[in-house]
Amino acid sequence: MHHDPVLISEIEEIFVSGWVHSCVVDATLGLAGHASMFCSHMSPGDVFIGIDRDQDNLALARTNLDVVNSSVTKHLVHSSFADIDTILDSLSLPEISFILYDLGVSSAHYDDGDRGFSIRYDAPLDMRFDRTQGRTARDLVMTLSEYELRDLMFRYADEKKAVHIARAIVEIRKTQSIDTTFDLLEIIKKASFDDHSPKRVFQALRIAVNAEFEHVEISIKKAIERLAIWGYIAIITFHSIEDRIVKNLLTPYLTGTIDDITGQTIIPARLTKYNKKPILPTELEIDKNPRSRSAKLRVLKRSY
Ligand SMILES: C[S@@+](CC[C@H](N)C(=O)[O-])C[C@H]1O[C@@H](n2cnc3c(N)ncnc32)[C@H](O)[C@@H]1O
Repeated sequence: MHHDPVLISEIEEIFVSGWVHSCVVDATLGLAGHASMFCSHMSPGDVFIGIDRDQDNLALARTNLDVVNSSVTKHLVHSSFADIDTILDSLSLPEISFILYDLGVSSAHYDDGDRGFSIRYDAPLDMRFDRTQGRTARDLVMTLSEYELRDLMFRYADEKKAVHIARAIVEIRKTQSIDTTFDLLEIIKKASFDDHSPKRVFQALRIAVNAEFEHVEISIKKAIERLAIWGYIAIITFHSIEDRIVKNLLTPYLTGTIDDITGQTIIPARLTKYNKKPILPTELEIDKNPRSRSAKLRVLKRSY
């Protein structure tokens, strides 16, 4: 299993420019590409926390991190980053100096033919990051109403053929069970006549199965509360809907609260932008790692 960490040089430059790294969190540990870089720059006694919902990725990350900077205390946690506050409390760590969210799926997920994330392999329709709990993609496809199916395709992937695809799913499941990626693929292709629909529908289902946006919103708010003064929060998004959610979430922290009547600042802005515009991958990185093409990195610093 392999995963090229996206925008790693850009993140490294920002990371080493920070003045303390006493508590670093990688909220989406994956295969520990970014995490290995973080740990290699940390000092004895510093604490690193790596979180992942996926037990398989966590095990791979553990092996990869075992050989990096043994003077750093490393805690690898199987959990959602939505529980960031409880994780910090359980380790008696009040503040975060740097936190990274590299959202979405790792290449390992797509390359593992059994997980149901990829349209390339015939596999059970699962798509859960955490296979120990929650509803699978099959559960959603077989039980959601036509309206709910349509809605999730519109909301999570802007799928223009959502109406036709949702209707086809509901019709087919009256007589047969939709169990595998290829079962679903056939239905989408026949209902949409659009080569791009399968990818978008799979994306929408994955987001719904893992309640991705809900977890992002909960976690980022909690992480900002626990960010040390001058601490950094870095977020990589991979598609426009996800990016809009993150941008809207951050806006109040960047503008503060203004009194409607007096125009005075009641609550000053808590965060400042490290980079005015999102950082994008270079052409060179996109050539080497096409998955990075849609990545956008936002970095913010806690100012008070
Ligand atoms: C893009 S990969 C991260 C890759 C990582 N930066 C690296 O360099 O290897 C995203 C990871 O986040 C995990 N993930 C997704 N949602 C999560 C959540 N709510 N909480 C914790 N981990 C999550 C996925 O299981 C996946 O391993």
